[in-house]
Amino acid sequence: MSPTNLLIRQAQILLPNGEFLQGDVQLQEGRIAQVAATIAPAEGERVIDAEGLTLLPGVIDPQVHFREPGLEHKEDLFTASCACAKGGVTSFLEMPNTRPLTTTQAALDDKLHRASQKCLVNYGFFIGATRENLPDLRTAQPTPGIKIFMGSMHGPLLIDQEADLAPIFATGDRLIAVHAENQGRIEQRRQQFAGITDPAIHSQIQDNQAALEATQLALKLSRKYRRRLHILHLSTAEEADLLRQEKPTWVTAEVTPQHLLLNTSAYATIGTLAQMNPPLRSPHDNEVLWQALLDGVIDFIATDHAPHTLEEKAQPYPNSPSGMPGVETSLPLLLTQAKQGRCTVAQVANWMSTAVARAYGIPNKGLITPGYDADLVLVDLVTKRPVLRSQLLTKCGWSPFEGWQLTGWPVVTIVGGQVVYERGQLNLDVRGKPLSFVQTP
Ligand code: DOR
Repeated sequence: MSPTNLLIRQAQILLPNGEFLQGDVQLQEGRIAQVAATIAPAEGERVIDAEGLTLLPGVIDPQVHFREPGLEHKEDLFTASCACAKGGVTSFLEMPNTRPLTTTQAALDDKLHRASQKCLVNYGFFIGATRENLPDLRTAQPTPGIKIFMGSMHGPLLIDQEADLAPIFATGDRLIAVHAENQGRIEQRRQQFAGITDPAIHSQIQDNQAALEATQLALKLSRKYRRRLHILHLSTAEEADLLRQEKPTWVTAEVTPQHLLLNTSAYATIGTLAQMNPPLRSPHDNEVLWQALLDGVIDFIATDHAPHTLEEKAQPYPNSPSGMPGVETSLPLLLTQAKQGRCTVAQVANWMSTAVARAYGIPNKGLITPGYDADLVLVDLVTKRPVLRSQLLTKCGWSPFEGWQLTGWPVVTIVGGQVVYERGQLNLDVRGKPLSFVQTP
């Protein structure tokens, strides 16, 4: 499907300087052609009346688990990308813990091919580090970077020993993204708390200390080898404080909406649906993470969309799997916070798009300015609607935020100049493109 030419009229447009302009945006050949107070429609151009709506750069979600290939009973690239389109997510970066694991160029190529066939939004895929695939980690293309599970993983993707981590940090210069939890401490505490089936114990087993120790180790290695490091889903006050004290310029960090907005009290209401890795923390951790985000200590937001079926989640802890979905709710969750005064709409767009594009070196995305890709979302910052299970498009069919009254729901989502979602309807003919990554070491 080739991009149509579109004119979005009289939206509140978020400009690159963080200010809003009530005006028009013209999209031609998949790019933003013009931004101005008024633009006369060109011949044959489709006009979208956006009066009362706010136009933001499309969300780039930099950490998702979309389960294809191999775990399609939980999610697949089609269902996940439909959920993205509905949630205003126009690009995603996906993780390597699929079956087979994405640890070779061939596995990466397979994912890229699958995505080209069925993804409604743009896509990129991490390559997973094992103890054996250093050559692949160096040469794989295109990829936003290397994913290392320092903990909370089993099998070849788990790399928990410094002696195995060091050669990866020492070889090459592309971005390394870490899931930072200390596996040794987790295993020891698992034994200590064995037999407890209350899922709340999860946050005590995989405690703040386990996360802090792994983040300290990742920072140490990043410093030693001056290696570009990204810390995935930062979850504790201790890690935020550490980064506040000493964050090299080549290190970035992200936080999930769950770690900002949910805490250990969620186990009492939603049980194992609140179980994720790293686990939910205390209200104090929520506060410190928010402040770190506001102060720029944490750079951006990722959902860690990690769907499991309700049947899987219904198993008693610890057999219940960790993870929760997020791409359909992340933007309205954060925009609702903005409406409540916790941050600004411009900050939300920066954390969910502009800063992500910058950190991963994704060219021409994350800003509404001429020449940039026409990946956009029009949101309604007035109407409030609850998160309803019946309306979710993720294959897993549930959300930890069900019942939450949110504003800022996407009304229209545009990918590469094509309307992929509009007022409840998906355009299933739209296909996203592979993302490219231009990283400066
Ligand atoms: O809770 C989680 N679930 N955290 C992860 O890092 C992995 C994910 C999954 O794939 O289910």
